[in-house]
Amino acid sequence: MQNFSIAIAAFVTAASALAFEALPPKAADPANNPSSSAKIELGKALYFDARLSKTGKVSCNSCHNVQGSGTDNKPVSEGVDGQKGARNAPTVWNAAFYPVQFWDGRAATLEDQAKGPMINPVEMGMPNHDAVVAAVSKIQGYHPLFKSAFGDEQINIDRIAQAIGAFERTLLTPSSPFDRYVQGDHKALSPAAQRGLNLVQKTGCLACHSGTNFSGPNLPTGSGFYMRFPALPSAALEAKYGFSKDLGRYEATHKDADKHMFRVQSWRNIELTAPYFHNGSVATLDEAVRVMAKLQLNKDLKDSEVHDIVAFLKSLTGKRPKIEAPQLPQ
Ligand code: HEC
Ligand code: HEC
Repeated sequence: MQNFSIAIAAFVTAASALAFEALPPKAADPANNPSSSAKIELGKALYFDARLSKTGKVSCNSCHNVQGSGTDNKPVSEGVDGQKGARNAPTVWNAAFYPVQFWDGRAATLEDQAKGPMINPVEMGMPNHDAVVAAVSKIQGYHPLFKSAFGDEQINIDRIAQAIGAFERTLLTPSSPFDRYVQGDHKALSPAAQRGLNLVQKTGCLACHSGTNFSGPNLPTGSGFYMRFPALPSAALEAKYGFSKDLGRYEATHKDADKHMFRVQSWRNIELTAPYFHNGSVATLDEAVRVMAKLQLNKDLKDSEVHDIVAFLKSLTGKRPKIEAPQLPQ
């Protein structure tokens, strides 16, 4: 507990020296998956295609709606046959800027991530990747799309994941009021949001929520920025929200040191992505801010402070590109 406070004090000092960054207009492609408009178009079709699921009813977009918040806005997601998972679906907007994917960081890249849900029994429920490839191969209209994207018609799970990854790297939301403020438009933030910006620095939030995505320092791909959550015990909040039931990164690594470690979550577009936290147990942003201050920093915020911090968080809602549902290949 004492070590924790010291570590946080050091972090706060480091964080206050950070310059704020606007959201970059582009996410860099990995060397092994250069993007092209043909690949993005293919990835978009696959992303919207429920035929990649066991029941033919669940697509990536069912849980990460890119015509809205990039999530399903449910506490935990419902996959094939109405089955529920254990975790809240994070938004896909700006996921490209995380150095690791998932609440526990168990996938390094968007490509690795995309292979998971199709064969997750409670998400898309396919028995294996061969079945996914067979389902896509059966649809004649996909063959020319793979040819345009990859040079030949071969369909395999890596190409499916690469196309989806390329599409997801276009899901960026630049030009939020905060970004415009950082770029020199001092009127872009309301007075309340400006007070909120000072408060998140002063209170210590930025010790963890720093960087482009407010999810920690910009680390190399594969290196996650994890913190214990809850960092400080609270029987009352535990009884109410049950945060400690999920062992976090431990579920992926089985190392004791990783128990209750979670990737620090982005603040971008947070006003759109309720309910909050890995188990989706907190319905409002006000309450999420109070819970964080209490459990991570042992602070009880005043109502006016919560109000201002929420005003700042709302200034992180960016401009979403308008995405029409594609005409799916037949
Ligand atoms: C049934 C709902 C459901 C479906 C279908 C689904 N996801 Fe997810 N997705 C989730 C949940 C829940 C998580 C968080 C799981 C975890 O962290 O353990 C998640 C995590 C992610 C993440 C990580 C984001 C982050 O911030 O770490 C990405 C990216 C993503 N999904 C993309 C996809 C893609 C691409 C597809 C289709 C191939 C897909 N999802 C299908 C529910 C779903
Ligand atoms: C010690 C590190 C740490 C500090 C300090 C911290 N956070 Fe967090 N924050 C996290 C972690 C880790 C998560 C993910 C928790 C989980 O597993 O649900 C998170 C999640 C959140 C979420 C929910 C995100 C979502 O998508 O559901 C909000 C909102 C948030 N933090 C706001 C704040 C605010 C405001 C402060 C300051 C009052 C703050 N945080 C301080 C580490 C921290």
